[in-house]
Amino acid sequence: SLTKAEKTIILSMWGKISTQADAIGTQALERLFASYPQTKTYFPHFDLRPGSAHLRTHGAKVAAALGDAVRSIDNIAGALSKLSEMHAYVLRVDPVNFKLLSHCLLVTVASHFPADFTADAHTAWDKFLSIVSCVLTEKYR
Ligand code: HEM
Repeated sequence: SLTKAEKTIILSMWGKISTQADAIGTQALERLFASYPQTKTYFPHFDLRPGSAHLRTHGAKVAAALGDAVRSIDNIAGALSKLSEMHAYVLRVDPVNFKLLSHCLLVTVASHFPADFTADAHTAWDKFLSIVSCVLTEKYR
């Protein structure tokens, strides 16, 4: 789990990210679909061209969910429980894809805030995103 210092890093960087969270969510999705095109198979009903309305709407939703997790950093499982059921029972997204999206979120955050993205910040975000991914995939079994 996250140390106190890691929680402080996430909370303080989220203060900056939240002002452009929609754009960051959207860019992470653009990176996901560009670098790992196999992930597009989950979104056959979306227009996945960069900048599309679908991408922007969905990017905002993903970012909002991350914001919920940040605000409930001591109870991420509770904050995301509805979303966890949806990804497991309705969407049935293969858990490997969460590593890919987490990586794209990490790179997007790093590219927006290079000065903040120290090795400690990298570790904190990597751990935070793997906790979020674990929560969203834990109902599978
Ligand atoms: C839907 C968040 C990972 C595929 C959603 C929604 C949110 C969300 C907030 C909207 C839920 C609603 O409409 O009530 C997240 C977060 C993730 C994550 C925070 C990890 C950090 C993934 C991955 C995939 C995926 C890895 C597949 C590659 C989908 C699909 C939908 C969805 C297909 C439904 C889209 C639609 O038809 O509107 N996700 N998700 N998600 N997610 Fe995820």
